[in-house]
Amino acid sequence: MLSALLNGWYRVCYTLWLPFYDLLVRPYSRLRRRAIKLLDLKPGERALIVGAGTGMDLKHLKPVPKITAIDLTPVMLWRLRRRARRRGLEVDARVMDALAMTFPDGSFDAVILHLILAVVPDPARCLAESARVLRPGGRAVVLDKFIRDDRRFRPILWLANLPLKLLGTNVNRRLGPLLEGTGLRIVRQEPAGLGGFVKIVLLRKEGPA
Ligand SMILES: C[S@@+](CC[C@H](N)C(=O)[O-])C[C@H]1O[C@@H](n2cnc3c(N)ncnc32)[C@H](O)[C@@H]1O
Repeated sequence: MLSALLNGWYRVCYTLWLPFYDLLVRPYSRLRRRAIKLLDLKPGERALIVGAGTGMDLKHLKPVPKITAIDLTPVMLWRLRRRARRRGLEVDARVMDALAMTFPDGSFDAVILHLILAVVPDPARCLAESARVLRPGGRAVVLDKFIRDDRRFRPILWLANLPLKLLGTNVNRRLGPLLEGTGLRIVRQEPAGLGGFVKIVLLRKEGPA
């Protein structure tokens, strides 16, 4: 119920962000490239971009694989489709909730989670869903803002989080506990800015590669 309400609010937020969005996230371009390089996608692999936004990851995916992109906000996908066409990429772009994906288990070789775990109301569920749709041995890459697992309570972040949550992001999340029980394990973790607050994390789903 709460998730549904928040999803509705985030759809409004990201519709309003659309005119400024690409400019706002341009500084992440180098980090996206690095994260996608870590995924080491092979020709023919199936990649899913979760909460794909306007498709700022697409330019780092060529000449890659079969790309599927999901997002809750239709106008974000509208821009993603336009971007894909300009780049000559075929992308299966669908309006879908990252917390309740309709893909069968094991549908993808790789999942891209850029700037989404800090947004969705239930990031543990988003990770569990990502793990479900990954094949055993599949990889996922996360690029996002996380507080350190050993810092439980930081009043400044807690205060900053109140208005930021309303604007569509959350700066008070820890990755470690979110991964528990998902079957995803950390393969590599790199600090990516703001003293390690922004991180790139490569994950692998248990099972044969
Ligand atoms: C901060 S943007 C990140 C977009 C893109 N991944 C990027 O790196 O630029 C967050 C995106 O998540 C989408 N979103 C929010 N909640 C979602 C949900 N429950 N399921 C799918 N997408 C969601 C928003 O519409 C928005 O496009």
